[in-house]
Amino acid sequence: MSEDRYLTFALGKGRLAKQTLEAFERIGITCEEMKEKDTRKLIFVNEKLKLKFFLAKGPDVPTYVEYGAADLGVVGKDTVLEEGRNIYEVLDLGFGVCKMCVCGPKSAEEYLKSHELIRVATKYPKIAKDYFFGKKHQTVEIIKLNGSIELAPIVGLSEVIVDIVETGSTLRENGLMVLEEVCPLSARMVVNQVSMKMEHERITRIISDLKLVIGERK
Ligand code: PRP
Repeated sequence: MSEDRYLTFALGKGRLAKQTLEAFERIGITCEEMKEKDTRKLIFVNEKLKLKFFLAKGPDVPTYVEYGAADLGVVGKDTVLEEGRNIYEVLDLGFGVCKMCVCGPKSAEEYLKSHELIRVATKYPKIAKDYFFGKKHQTVEIIKLNGSIELAPIVGLSEVIVDIVETGSTLRENGLMVLEEVCPLSARMVVNQVSMKMEHERITRIISDLKLVIGERK
């Protein structure tokens, strides 16, 4: 592939963005433009390294990568699972560690044990379906919400929720608890399937450099 081709990274906005940029800095991939405060720019370029970066909403990162608008992306495993895109997941970056869990008040424990037809509120309907229908063989009604999922059992919208638990403080402060664990989560690097072939050398070098700095931190 031409030496002049830019490699483009799609990074998820929010919680993972800062740690992602720190990990890249440690392997010499920097983007000074991106650090400018209050910038309204959407795409940032490192001319010397022939790299481009853009920040997107987390759930859109796998979409950009599948269609090749970005060669690589960094996003949470929750989003990788929920979006189900045709992309390669190549590396667990070891940060953004949390768990996908079924949560609710203690009183909801029995509904899970006896496989009752309950309502499950979540931002992750695919993950919830795969878990309840595919793994547990429990028929439930899934209700899609867009945030503050912990509200649902408190106000009586659902018996339980499927949501991310990091420190557990949102649950504790709202009288809820983890009832079942669905899967562990962390930040993952994803790659476009064609880019992986066409830019194999550059991409595998980035992956192996990142593996080294991840190893050092453990
Ligand atoms: C996430 C998640 C929980 C909370 C868990 O929400 O949905 O609400 O963080 O973190 P904790 O265990 O450390 O309390 P987020 O803040 O991303 O916002 P959202 O509610 O709008 O999804």
